[in-house]
Amino acid sequence: MSDTGTHDAQSCIVVIFGASGDLTRRKLAPALYNLARERLLPDRTVLIGYGRTEMTDQQFRSRLHQAVAEFSHTQPLDEAVWDSLAGRVFYQRGAYDEAAGYRGLQRRLRELDGQLGTGGNRIFYMSIPPSVVLPVLHSLRDAGALTRRRRCDEAGQGCLRVVFEKPFGRDLESARRLNAEIDGLLEECQVFRMDHYLGKETVQNISVLRFANSIFEHVWRSESVRYVRVTVAETIGVEDRGGYFDQTGILRDILQNHVLQLLTLVTMEPPASLDADAIRDEKAKVLRCLRRLEGEEVRRSVVRGQYDGGVVDGREVPAYRDEPGVEPDSLTETFVALRTYIDNWRWAGVPIYLCAGKRLAERLTEVAVEFKGVPRVLFGAMEGVELRANRLVLRIQPDEGVSLRFVSKVPGLKMELRNVEMDFPYGSAFPAASPEAYERLLLDVMAGRSALFARRDEVELAWEFATTILEQWEKEPPPDFPNYKPGTWGPISSEAFFAEDTVYDSVVGPHPTA
Ligand SMILES: NC(=O)c1ccc[n+]([C@@H]2O[C@H](COP(=O)([O-])OP(=O)(O)OC[C@H]3O[C@@H](n4cnc5c(N)ncnc54)[C@H](OP(=O)(O)O)[C@@H]3O)[C@@H](O)[C@H]2O)c1
Repeated sequence: MSDTGTHDAQSCIVVIFGASGDLTRRKLAPALYNLARERLLPDRTVLIGYGRTEMTDQQFRSRLHQAVAEFSHTQPLDEAVWDSLAGRVFYQRGAYDEAAGYRGLQRRLRELDGQLGTGGNRIFYMSIPPSVVLPVLHSLRDAGALTRRRRCDEAGQGCLRVVFEKPFGRDLESARRLNAEIDGLLEECQVFRMDHYLGKETVQNISVLRFANSIFEHVWRSESVRYVRVTVAETIGVEDRGGYFDQTGILRDILQNHVLQLLTLVTMEPPASLDADAIRDEKAKVLRCLRRLEGEEVRRSVVRGQYDGGVVDGREVPAYRDEPGVEPDSLTETFVALRTYIDNWRWAGVPIYLCAGKRLAERLTEVAVEFKGVPRVLFGAMEGVELRANRLVLRIQPDEGVSLRFVSKVPGLKMELRNVEMDFPYGSAFPAASPEAYERLLLDVMAGRSALFARRDEVELAWEFATTILEQWEKEPPPDFPNYKPGTWGPISSEAFFAEDTVYDSVVGPHPTA
């Protein structure tokens, strides 16, 4: 959710640090191309790639051309659009911590400002590993390219914004340190902490569903809701990211950011306006009230797992510990499921289930809100009828949509009841293809809209929640890894754990309609 206009994106020079990398190829270049194709990219937008890799402007252009042809969600590639964009694509070679590279970059920025009229507007995109972020910021500062600015001048010139990719820190302390460093260099309004889930259409629709429809708000509270569950499940393993993931784990990689961001959107109070800070104030309040799990509570309310090897769909898949880049005795978790609570008036006593995992039975990201059942006076006693409570599921990906489960009479002379789903599939309801998250987010950075980016306090509060669990895990390493088979819904212990609430099947994995 954010303010609506797209026309206020400003012409600027986007400098991508680490432009030879995977993110530029898969996401950033295709996003810029698709914005140009939709005529949403301001005419004079310039892209400069920066990195250590030796490349000419022409080689960089060819590389991006190939990337767009391979990864753009719109196909075939429109060569005329590409050509118009390619003329404004450049590459600057340089080390991340040496002044010479930045002097060259500054020269180029000034030249291009003069030639193409980009008004001194800059976006610095940190598409580099976290260890390189501070050296880049310091070098930019030393080169005079990084200045604190509360706002652009009146003609919309001289904007400077910096985009930070995840991971943003690896625990509360490191996130605080990084934020403090950034705070010393930039105003918060210049800082864009990326969580690409927030750019997804279906995630933006969570707020629309809640606050543009009157029927949900009355039941969106503890009196009516039995539990809220956020699931991010993947069928794939760590693929070629074993080295990175083994240092990270699923709690840091997915739950601390994507899962908690989804939770805040589903549970926050209506914001006073669509202003970025009004929205982020409400999200931060949820995170402040999210019950921290510490000590013994971690053992009771958190399940962690690591996948074993096995056969999925007739294909042999390796155990996590046998993946390239992973330590053979790794204790890194590839699955986490937990139960906590939001201790405020709206959600008091409602279990909040959060789950994320790899090599699970199905690929899905969804939010489920299950409502309390009826007293069952009329139908509950009938033989063979198992009524299930109403449940609203917001499907984020794939198969984006919204479905509501309710009970219906089966046509016929007998009083037979069945659970049915009322489904709203995004894809067929709206024929136009949804833009990719990075398109929306890049455009928002160009317009200075920060509602879809995490604010400093949100990030630190989310780390506060994750860090108490990580600390407890460090004290008590898991005795039983690997502990779940690929292609399942996680460790058996999570089944037993959630069975206490008799909602396991709803908590981890979807459950049958009938
Ligand atoms: N890829 C994704 O889909 C994705 C998704 C979410 C978040 N992210 C985040 O976005 C950032 C960029 O992702 P990426 O996949 O593009 O990363 P990457 O391919 O590993 O690295 C990007 C570039 O950074 C430079 N680099 C790599 N390791 C370095 C090191 N140790 N020291 C100095 N420079 C180094 C390299 O460029 P040169 O050698 O040319 O300097 C490399 O091409 C990362 O922070 C990542 O966590 C990525």
